Amino acid sequence: MCGIFAYLNCNVRRERSYILQVLFNGLRRLEYRGYDSAGVSIDSSSVSLPPLVFRQVGNIESLVKSVYQEVDATDLNLEESFVTHAGIAHTRWATHGEPAPRNSHPQSSGAGNDFLVVHNGVVTNYEVLKQTLIRHGFTFESDTDTEVIPKLAKYVFDKSNEESGDMTVTFSQVVLEVMRHLEGAYALIFKSRHYPNELIACKRGSPLLLGVKELTEESSKGSLFHDDKYPSQNGNPRELFLSSDANALVEHTRKVLVIEDGEVVHLKDGGVSILKFDGDKGKRGVLSRPASVQRALSVLEMEVEQINKGSYEHYMQKEIHEQPESLTTTMRGRLIRGGTCKAKTVLLGGLKDHLKTIRRSRRIVFIGCGTSYNAALAARPILEELSGIPVTMEIASDLLDRQGPIYREDTAVFVSQSGETADTLHALEYALQNGALCVGITNTVGSAIARNTHCGVHINAGAEIGVASTKAYTSQIVVMAMLALAIGGDAISNQARREAIIDCLFDLPNKVREVLKLDQEMKDLAKLLIAEQSLLMFGRGYNYATALEGSLKVKEVSLMHSEGILAGEMKHGPLALVDESLPIVVIATHDACFSKQQSVIQQLHARKGRLIVMCSRGDAAAVSLGGACRVIEVPQVEDCLQPVVNIVPLQLLAYHLTVLRGYNVDQPRNLAKSVTTE
Ligand code: UD1
Ligand code: M6R
Repeated sequence: MCGIFAYLNCNVRRERSYILQVLFNGLRRLEYRGYDSAGVSIDSSSVSLPPLVFRQVGNIESLVKSVYQEVDATDLNLEESFVTHAGIAHTRWATHGEPAPRNSHPQSSGAGNDFLVVHNGVVTNYEVLKQTLIRHGFTFESDTDTEVIPKLAKYVFDKSNEESGDMTVTFSQVVLEVMRHLEGAYALIFKSRHYPNELIACKRGSPLLLGVKELTEESSKGSLFHDDKYPSQNGNPRELFLSSDANALVEHTRKVLVIEDGEVVHLKDGGVSILKFDGDKGKRGVLSRPASVQRALSVLEMEVEQINKGSYEHYMQKEIHEQPESLTTTMRGRLIRGGTCKAKTVLLGGLKDHLKTIRRSRRIVFIGCGTSYNAALAARPILEELSGIPVTMEIASDLLDRQGPIYREDTAVFVSQSGETADTLHALEYALQNGALCVGITNTVGSAIARNTHCGVHINAGAEIGVASTKAYTSQIVVMAMLALAIGGDAISNQARREAIIDCLFDLPNKVREVLKLDQEMKDLAKLLIAEQSLLMFGRGYNYATALEGSLKVKEVSLMHSEGILAGEMKHGPLALVDESLPIVVIATHDACFSKQQSVIQQLHARKGRLIVMCSRGDAAAVSLGGACRVIEVPQVEDCLQPVVNIVPLQLLAYHLTVLRGYNVDQPRNLAKSVTTE
């Protein structure tokens, strides 16, 4: 959803055109999250003039075009250079107010752009603040919740200067006071005409990172952090970046500070100072000075190549094809081959101290949304089988709507690629309040879910940029299968089963490599289906999840209606839809449900169903009804891991259908990568 990017060059001369390029490129790195408008703010030619703000509806390229048009019309000098300059930028996903330039960010305090703000998240008490500010003479131009923030900053600034009469209020004092009045979750960057070349970043709930790029040996030796005792020691050249997303930083620097909730990070004179917001609404904060904190920078474990498309045309295509590698990374260091007298085993570092508690729990509850929910559904049977603990499934929003029971004796497992999904995060808060042991399964180190769960496992699938989740899905299933093995322990009764699964895990990347060879076959199938209105997918057992996930992929990217159906429910309604034109995919790979699926195929065929059957290699004759059905043959693996293999042709089908139908594969209509609002 919304994305934040800021660039501050300190003690290094940069032309205006360069600064704009850095800001635009930052925004391009955030595009994948989903957005409908964008904006930037840079300085005018003189500090006595208000900062410039450009905002546009549509994609980044429309913003770039409109900025250059305005530059031409106003004779703004693109070659003018700045030794120090602070620019901010934003991609917006409309929540309060339609996509329109006036609703895009930066939002302003008013005509002179005294304070400008880019914002991710939602200010829940904005109506009250808006009414108060209107009473104090402010007029509002946008429908956003954000607009109250810069206006409140101006109000605080004017009032404290009026009271003290000496203009001594600092930028961070203004922001601390603003924060005292804000409710909700947010990440914010402030830019101000009164504090040129400074930026303030702060957050509560939404992610925000600071990236630091030292431009000389000297600057890397000097301290980054301002020290109260030795202020302004930073004359060295340095570039500072702020972003809601590591993807936008990694091409500039790997040295980052993950800003924590309540921190007010002040970038000034090439240095950084951090104040901790105490959140006490009772105290008037303008004149108080909270303690400063110093923190160590961490190193981003991300390669620039991860966020580039390489030789692929689309991120979704790249991410489907890199699954053999992402699965290998997911399992790296976690599968132990065993030896002559040692059993093969699984080691999940993040869970080893909690396994006893999990084994003692009364039930395991999987909680997630969309693809992450489907991955948990695929893993549920093996977890039940190996752990003997009842496993229930919850879609995060539904759990919250019902306020469903969660107990202290429960282990609640939160599955989320981004680790930021609002529904899942709120369900986590709810489960924490109810005293359950909370386990996270996430792809994003440092995400809210990774930080707020008691323990968990990072799936390590690498950055996933396509809105449609593909490689994260297969890595999530593998992690949950490993979770089942870890919880199941070393009971002799299922040792053979455990070893077979571990052997299969070792070989799984090769099997996925094999199934990826179906690419052309899936493209041919997509050509046949290109003009269809609807596509059904029937699965059961381990592959009920495959039917749900395959149809989710088809509907979200190719914009074709598709429904995943539990084959056992066929006669209870869906059978009425069957005729000779509606295409139906039946997943009938070889497992305990195979004969039941054969019977489903027979029944659908008897109603002249137009069938496409996915079967294990070698089973084509048994399922094709003498050539009446089109067949997709896939390699056979252990039943509990078969969903990892089976989903791949359906991902390819969704991808090709989308390209052939001419839709945007990586950013489907109306969807965002991280769904950070309820
Ligand atoms: C960790 C290191 C990895 C290193 C490995 C071997 C990190 C992030 N991972 O991986 O680089 O190679 O040790 O020494 O430094 N957690 C949660 N919630 C979640 C996800 C994770 O609380 O949703 C916690 C885990 O309980 C654990 C920590 O985060 O304490 C790291 O988890 P994970 O990366 O999965 O652990 P390892 O595989 O041991
Ligand atoms: O980041 P999460 O895994 O929590 O996201 C959950 C869903 O929003 C996500 O899986 C969504 O369904 C995908 N677009 C599916 O491809």
